[in-house]
Amino acid sequence: MSTQSPENFDLIIIGGGPAGYVAAIRAAQLGMKTACVEMRKTYGGTCLNVGCIPSKALLESSEHFHVARNKLAKHGVVISEVKLDLPTMMKRKDAVVRQLTNGIAGLLKKNQVVAINGKGRLTGLQEDRKLVEVTAPDGSRRALSAPRILLATGSEPASLPFLPFDGQTVISSTEALALGQVPQHLVVIGAGVIGLELGSVWLRLGAKVTVIEYLDRVLPPVDRQAGAEIHKALIKQGMEFKLAHKCLGARKENGHLVVEAEELATQAKIALECDVVLVATGRKPYTEGLGLDAVGLAPDKAGRIATDAHYQTQVPGIFAIGDLIAGPMLAHKAEEEGIAAVELMAGQAGHVNYEAIPNVVYTWPELASVGLTEEEAQAKGAEYKVGTFPFMANGRAKTMEETEGLVKVIADARTDRVLGVHIVGPRASDLIPEAVAVMEFGGSAEDIARTCHAHPTLSETVKEAALAVHKRAIHM
Ligand code: NAI
Repeated sequence: MSTQSPENFDLIIIGGGPAGYVAAIRAAQLGMKTACVEMRKTYGGTCLNVGCIPSKALLESSEHFHVARNKLAKHGVVISEVKLDLPTMMKRKDAVVRQLTNGIAGLLKKNQVVAINGKGRLTGLQEDRKLVEVTAPDGSRRALSAPRILLATGSEPASLPFLPFDGQTVISSTEALALGQVPQHLVVIGAGVIGLELGSVWLRLGAKVTVIEYLDRVLPPVDRQAGAEIHKALIKQGMEFKLAHKCLGARKENGHLVVEAEELATQAKIALECDVVLVATGRKPYTEGLGLDAVGLAPDKAGRIATDAHYQTQVPGIFAIGDLIAGPMLAHKAEEEGIAAVELMAGQAGHVNYEAIPNVVYTWPELASVGLTEEEAQAKGAEYKVGTFPFMANGRAKTMEETEGLVKVIADARTDRVLGVHIVGPRASDLIPEAVAVMEFGGSAEDIARTCHAHPTLSETVKEAALAVHKRAIHM
């Protein structure tokens, strides 16, 4: 513990990811003297450094490669030889990450947030102040104190006990974003969002990709029909699936890795020879070395920290947001919580509408959804109507040669209020905000159906699916 008297702040935020840095900027806007402590050299957390941004950069680049090799000829664009330059692809990804993380550092500075590089640890409570010690990368220590602490330390990949990460052949998403060469055979454990996104990247770049998934479906939390569309599209692209299989582990054999799995129904064993295994079976909150015990806090069995509706933990003045607390581990959910938490601290009416948080899977086609899945609507005993509309019947999708997928609108059968929207299709991520906004305003399928949508656009599928709720789609 440092012997110097602590530097005082109004608010200390531990963690500079989308939850922490956004909260820091908002807190500074609200006039709080704010410190944001981050142990990485750069701000932006998992999302900007080793998550959303680098994966989307590679998804974009690999899709260009795939399009050049497989789709352009149909448009009458003939390229004699398409070659992969993986180092350039990786360099571009790194440059995008660098620009964006530098941008965050600039934003913190502009807002006069005190950015402190080091690992923050709670060290105790002193009257109404909470004490934090920051250990810098060079080992030096700095003592801070504030009446309010916001914990935003995010999450880390969860490993499988029988298949621990070695960073070379058994890897997490972090290493899968920086492979030096295209694997011949990549085995992915877990058909969740990370498995399917990063599996897609390496599949497009030429790897054989096999996904082992415990459940009998891909992307388990998403609407079953929407998930099935993605499954179908990825099979068509050449991804192989071993659904309803339990991974048993891996062994080294003749310089190769052999992954073993067992079919749940029959106990039939399979052995897959591969060069790399990506374990993508979920993430867990990151609280290691955070000093929760020093203030009387403990994570629950899932590693999450319990909070009240104002994001306050059981210790008054200590708050938590983002992947550390309940709810989906999504950057935009974490950002919203960061803003709401500090607005509530400032006596404002911060609020997050958990019913209207979009979820996007950046495969191709993309999957974007908001609200209840059909299975959730059934489980709630809701009386609902469904309208669907395929991209095959959309003019713009035809012109793009991108006709896979559909839009599905679920509306309350009595009030017509939109309960959920699920889009599988080209740039679904750019189509979902309309549905989110309608749900935010408590709108109905009729509201979407009577809204003029530009022609010819992909967005007309959303209007048509809303019309289909009342069995009056025009182009189907
Ligand atoms: P996930 O929870 O989305 O999927 C994990 C999958 O692994 C599940 O389908 C599960 O059934 C399966 N599984 C678990 N144990 C298994 C085993 N032993 N054998 C075979 N299958 C097994 O987790 P994922 O993909 O690792 O992502 C972690 C978090 O990161 C998620 O919460 C996600 O929301 C977030 N994320 C979000 C992205 C986005 O919004 N586009 C992109 C990447 C991550």
